[in-house]
Amino acid sequence: TGTGKFFVGGNWKCNGTTESIKKLVGELNDGKFEESVEVVVAPPFLYIGQVIGSLTDRIAVSAQNSWVGKGGAFTGEISADQLVDAGVKWVIQGHSERRHVIGESNETIGKKSAYALSKGLGVIACVGEKLEERESNRTTDVVFEQLQAYADAISDWSNVVIAYEPVWAIGTGKVASPEQAQEVHAAIRSWLGDKISPDLASATRIIYGGSVNGANCAELAKKEDIDGFLVGGASLKGPEFVTICNAVI
Ligand code: G3P
Repeated sequence: TGTGKFFVGGNWKCNGTTESIKKLVGELNDGKFEESVEVVVAPPFLYIGQVIGSLTDRIAVSAQNSWVGKGGAFTGEISADQLVDAGVKWVIQGHSERRHVIGESNETIGKKSAYALSKGLGVIACVGEKLEERESNRTTDVVFEQLQAYADAISDWSNVVIAYEPVWAIGTGKVASPEQAQEVHAAIRSWLGDKISPDLASATRIIYGGSVNGANCAELAKKEDIDGFLVGGASLKGPEFVTICNAVI
């Protein structure tokens, strides 16, 4: 188990309006969280200011993406420097929707992560295999290749949380079984031990994402190498998200 606090992130993706986010923030502000859980939410860029201005300090704010380097003439992009300036503490990188819908490469994701870390942001570094990759027994090959691309760019891992999100489980309602998730989490931890250092392997939090909800979080949280969650759909419902955060053992 990673030695840091249990870590739960809510990835709101491209959802919400000023009104719905006001309601969700209100529900989170009313939530009672176990002390031993670190809670982070990732609103769309446009609403980050609104969320930081209204959300309790108990919960940190993450971005869902950031530009690969310093700002400038990059239409439509947001730099890590700007995120830090706005009070953001974390950024998600390498989410499967950015890899497979938007077409970001392993190399770009590594660069974005390294730049964000250099500016003091924490990085939620996502990895995960597609269904056909799992079915052809290539899960760990794919995940290790994605991890290697982060390792090629990152020198200090102390501010990194790894999110294992099997693509077939994202937004499908088809959650990985606790055993399936545990197996990959353990493989990620031993990869970290072999390729980076045993200390890092035991310190790093490895969180699971893919159809986590209030009903399945407790069983997943019991697994030794599951140190938290990255939650999509269920993070848009305040009370259910609070339940998931409190699945910490
Ligand atoms: O980043 C979280 C995510 O991809 C999982 O989404 O909706 O399956 O919980 P969801």
